[in-house]
Amino acid sequence: MELHKVRIVQKLNLVPIERRLEALYEGGFNTFRLSTKDVFLDMLTDSGTNAMSDNQLAAMMQGDDAYAGSQSFVRLQTAVKDVLGKELLLPVHQGRAAENIISIAYVKKGSLVPMNYHFTTAMAHITQNGGKIAELLYPEAYVINSDHPFKGNMNIEKLEEVIKHQGASNIPFIRMEASTNLIGGQPFSVQNLRDVRAIADKYSIRLVLDASLLGENAYLVLKREEEFKNSNMGEVMKTMTALADLVYFSARKISSSRGGGICTDKLEIFKELEALVPLYEGFLTYGGISIREIEAMAVGLYETLDETMICQSPSFIKYLVDALDAKGIPVIKPAGVLGAHVDAMQVCSHIPQTEYPAGALAAALFLVSGVRGMERGSISNQRDEYGNETYADMELLRLAVPRRVFTLSQIKYVEDRLNWLYDNRELIGGLRFVYEPPVLRFFMGGLEPTSDWPQKLMAKFRTDFGESL
Ligand code: F0G
Repeated sequence: MELHKVRIVQKLNLVPIERRLEALYEGGFNTFRLSTKDVFLDMLTDSGTNAMSDNQLAAMMQGDDAYAGSQSFVRLQTAVKDVLGKELLLPVHQGRAAENIISIAYVKKGSLVPMNYHFTTAMAHITQNGGKIAELLYPEAYVINSDHPFKGNMNIEKLEEVIKHQGASNIPFIRMEASTNLIGGQPFSVQNLRDVRAIADKYSIRLVLDASLLGENAYLVLKREEEFKNSNMGEVMKTMTALADLVYFSARKISSSRGGGICTDKLEIFKELEALVPLYEGFLTYGGISIREIEAMAVGLYETLDETMICQSPSFIKYLVDALDAKGIPVIKPAGVLGAHVDAMQVCSHIPQTEYPAGALAAALFLVSGVRGMERGSISNQRDEYGNETYADMELLRLAVPRRVFTLSQIKYVEDRLNWLYDNRELIGGLRFVYEPPVLRFFMGGLEPTSDWPQKLMAKFRTDFGESL
């Protein structure tokens, strides 16, 4: 049950399927390139789309606009200390800006960064600086239909092997990502983070925590890790951040605002990164973020401690995952955070990975529903250093459920249209690139269908739904 009420609303439009088909062609069959006027339910991401609270909006009016020494930044420092337990804060304009600064400071040619799993922008910044990554999950992380509570755990044995093989001096840091995004928003346990910390200590390697989805990871620790069943959000979050030397975050996610940050309690690390902030972001008391958003970030950080707020998105995701699963639609289990993740490799088993089944499923769902999800599969992967295509471990259609945005009847609409699409899945065909940017190609890349399958899918929709939108 939602422990909030709706006080400001935004009207939605559902355009006819014929218009949605045109929009797909105009947007290169890439849901990032759709215009919101054509989108009914925007489940692209939770980044910058979580609902803000009345207190966040009110705080924005108290922004202390100053280039240097703003009191809004002082309030943010206090919030970071109270919620994340770190004294020293560098503000940056969003999560990837933190990744840029950390990578410039620490990654060089020959560096290897072990991590539980990559995130697109984190990996791009590491490779841009000449480094490589090693993904060290346990095999259960790749099992779609699982009941493992912590699929985001780092494989500790492999971590030690990689360090021994590579040499600790070539490893600038170990990166742990809370609620591991690209494998379906799956958490790691506090115990696993402690084990990683022990290895980091043994070899004197920095431990970096990507805390963009830390609140949700902490919530699942409360629900799933025995040791913490009587703890509260604040205790779990601080236990996790205390284990890392450096914590960075996208405030677009963690605090339902905009912006980002890098925080630490080690002066040496702070000094290594400090000079890069005015160079790339802005002065040290705003870091490229609007002062109003800094106020919203401070309040939003405190609000992540509220279990009644943080549980809303994971609960709706669980509802959707259970409903789809009950109908036999393959979906990542257990339900994680951020969104529901449909397994396109199985739904579209007739589409080879070379024709991007997850991208095709995302386009098909938009066509038949106006629901905009996001491809998290091979299109989101980057080519290797020789320019070869690398295929993703999983081909997922992610349906993000931003915090406190959708109603349950909207979630039921998604369920209903996905059911129809699943019954008609044989009509979905493949995609191919017609325009492929060299970096982060999934954002602006353009594709086309490999046949007239979208027209056939639309014809079947018209047969079954009549004049309905
Ligand atoms: N780390 C994680 C785990 C993320 O999920 C994201 C963004 C970032 C870093 C980068 O932060 O967008 O503020 O630069 N994830 C968004 C998503 C884009 O849709 O999952 P950013």
